[in-house]
Amino acid sequence: MLTRDSRGAALLGGLPLHDILHDPAVAPSPGEPPTPAYVYDLDAMAHEVRALRAGFGSAPHLVAYAVKANTAGPIIRTLARQGCGAEVVSGGELAVALRCGIAADAILYSGVAKKKIEIDAAIGAGDRGILAIQIENVEEIARVSARAQALGRRARVSLRINPDIEADTHAKVATGHDEAKFGIAREDLPAAWDALDRAAHLDLVGLSCHIGSQLMRTNEYIDAAGVLLQCAAERERASGRLQFVSFGGGFGIDYGGGCDTKPQAFAQAVVKKLATAGLEGPTIVTEPGRALVGAHGLLCARVIAAKHSRSGRRWLLIDAGMNDLVRPAMYGAKHRIEPLDAPPHATDTSLWRVAGPVCESSDDFGEHPFVEPPDFVLIRDAGAYGFTMASEYNGRPLPVEVFIEQGRVAHVIRPRSVDSWVSERAGC
Ligand code: LLP
Repeated sequence: MLTRDSRGAALLGGLPLHDILHDPAVAPSPGEPPTPAYVYDLDAMAHEVRALRAGFGSAPHLVAYAVKANTAGPIIRTLARQGCGAEVVSGGELAVALRCGIAADAILYSGVAKKKIEIDAAIGAGDRGILAIQIENVEEIARVSARAQALGRRARVSLRINPDIEADTHAKVATGHDEAKFGIAREDLPAAWDALDRAAHLDLVGLSCHIGSQLMRTNEYIDAAGVLLQCAAERERASGRLQFVSFGGGFGIDYGGGCDTKPQAFAQAVVKKLATAGLEGPTIVTEPGRALVGAHGLLCARVIAAKHSRSGRRWLLIDAGMNDLVRPAMYGAKHRIEPLDAPPHATDTSLWRVAGPVCESSDDFGEHPFVEPPDFVLIRDAGAYGFTMASEYNGRPLPVEVFIEQGRVAHVIRPRSVDSWVSERAGC
């Protein structure tokens, strides 16, 4: 958790961020913190899982961590130790989840356009493939069945249903409405059941849905759960028990503007909803990404320059850009930006527009209050969809990642250097 000491210096997981950035395992040359740098608090992430799991009480459940939020091994291993499975969307994510110790039996694979090689990896994992390949369209049923036949195995699948429910969130992260490419529309379900009955090499083990991300209330999530449970009851009546129902992820976090609904509230609400659904006790699956890791990662950056214009505008130009954290440029997201070594909420502040080095006007993190330009800033709530969406645009290497556990720097992931980027691009 991010805290401040009596002088206002930022601490993560109890360790001063200043010391983390100067730790010999982090800074290759003394006194030269390698910014931009992502810093994560693994203990706080483990705590998030425990709090969410408490919300399910004694109901059978699986928290399938949406690996797309953050694919770092130390994070996946930490969440796996708390009993998480994984929700993955590519062969790469599947392989990293397995390598980090998540059992094949606890992995769901979603995605509207899975390649043959990816389907084969999912069917071939472990003793009997992954828990379920989430089928996103009717056409996929025959494709997956054919691959299972070719591999001489049965494949476990779930149908991802598009419940046609508009989530109250940013249009770019809403997925459960009828215009979305995701999932099978209700009117296409009869065709899906027919195709499943013809698919000799598949076992339908679950139904799922996911209506979108950064949900700040349970209303639409529960509406979608209602649709899913109706479909599940119909299917159970026709052809027997389902092993699980997955209501997807999407639990929101507080980016500074407030978010009163905690992940636990979603868990409690679906447990209650399931109790009245008349099903034969399926496991409740949720697929949270952001809620487990988002608030527990920071992006630290160095202030390169402070620019004043005669119009009165002040710019703080930092060495982290939209290639390192694309959420502000892509979704207009506002992440709080604070000085590393000074109290963030002093009274005599003025607003500075914080911008990065990338040659795009959208490389702009918005206006933030500072008393004076600091040497370093931290960008809050960057643990989810930060590093995983980063790119090397403008010839900028990916940021270093530092993992704090039990009050010490436990792991560092150092990406390739500018020199190796140059060699690869130049071809010599
Ligand atoms: N399950 C499925 C099928 C998903 O598509 C997603 C996210 C999740 C689970 C996890 O959602 P979460 O709990 O993290 O909200 N890049 C965007 C978010 C995109 C989410 C994509 N799908 C952002 O930075 O806000």
